[in-house]
Amino acid sequence: MQGRKVLLGVTGSIAVFKAAGWVSALAKEEAQVTVMMTEAATRFVTPLTFGALSGHQVSTDMFSTDAEEMMAHISLSGDAEVVLIAPATAQTIAQLAQGMADNLLTAAVLASAAPVVVCPAMNSKMLAHPATQRNLATLKELGYRIVEPENGPLACGEVGSGRLAEWETVRETLLGLFADQDLAGQHILITAGPTREPLDPARYLSNRSSGKMGYALARTAQRRGAEVVLISGPTSLPAPPGVTMVPVQTAAEMAEAVQEHAPGAQIIIKAAAVADFRAKEVASFKIKKKGADLRLDLVPNQDILASLGKERRQDQVLVGFAAESNNHEAEGRRKLEAKQVDLIVVNDILGQQTGFDVDTNQVTLITQEGAEQLALLSKEETANKIWDKVIALSKGKGK
Ligand code: PMT
Repeated sequence: MQGRKVLLGVTGSIAVFKAAGWVSALAKEEAQVTVMMTEAATRFVTPLTFGALSGHQVSTDMFSTDAEEMMAHISLSGDAEVVLIAPATAQTIAQLAQGMADNLLTAAVLASAAPVVVCPAMNSKMLAHPATQRNLATLKELGYRIVEPENGPLACGEVGSGRLAEWETVRETLLGLFADQDLAGQHILITAGPTREPLDPARYLSNRSSGKMGYALARTAQRRGAEVVLISGPTSLPAPPGVTMVPVQTAAEMAEAVQEHAPGAQIIIKAAAVADFRAKEVASFKIKKKGADLRLDLVPNQDILASLGKERRQDQVLVGFAAESNNHEAEGRRKLEAKQVDLIVVNDILGQQTGFDVDTNQVTLITQEGAEQLALLSKEETANKIWDKVIALSKGKGK
């Protein structure tokens, strides 16, 4: 978001207060936010609030003679990279659908060449009304992006659709607009998180994977235009917006889900920490402490990546991860060959800022051509670098 120029149009819905939080979030990410408000919006929250949060003067009047604000609808829309209308009332949606320009906000939208993102917020009956639905359909025909309202309790006390979308969802829409769509049209399958191998009704074997690396891969691929299926072991992470989620628990369930979705994928990345072993026998009742040592007989799980390597299509790009504690590059190269994959992403699981359950990673990308060590980056930046490498490999396959 850093440096991105966002023109936020705020209209007269009680959800205006949430838009104030969005301005604060954008400012924290060092985006350049300029706010314009309809007169109705100023009834809910003053321009002073948005001015203080955005650090820029707020425009409300198209006919202002103040030198700074003259022809505001033209100057405001000039260098905006996106026009975000949030919350968007039924009235403003209707005006935008008709191409009206009788206030600063609607005039600025017509004067802007930037993409327009509309976030409706209103009572559910108003939203469901055929006139509103027709206006929203018109906006979609005009190429405006609608971030659908959520279900839940509304200001009027009812419960239903009409709540302003969550900021995380809108943020993903904006990031998708800013990203190069260089994964557009690609069907990508990603696995993430740990698996849980049951021992008895109360216990299981698992590992320290949080899912952050795999979810970062899914979010960044989706922003860059890919159709993403994310097969995920149990994590506490929210599902990335716009991604098809397939939740699994055990390695066997993950293997089955991968088997189902792999044929349709042009790119497969296995970031999940799949348990290599499971209990030979899962106890039907909770294993009782008997004082003596407890021995567990474990049997190997299917190596899903190795199976993919055996059955792979040559037009597919297959990427594995290697969670290593030593001999990183040698182990990574061994896995590249043994599992017949195009790229192995090696990460050190002993590092304080790398591997399991941290927001950063430092990986080495190993291909047939050689090894490339990346710097210590956020898992999102690491994911973007991995996608850059995958795109280069795809081109090598003449795709
Ligand atoms: O989820 P985070 O907290 O963000 O942590 C990220 C991570 C450390 C889990 C991730 O970066 C990572 O290294 N994932 C791979 C973990 C792992 O299982 O590595 P491995 O070296 O044991 O397995 C090698 C490859 O084979 C992996 O692609 C793995 O998905 C795959 N595998 C392993 C075992 C198995 N039975 N089937 C598999 O497909």
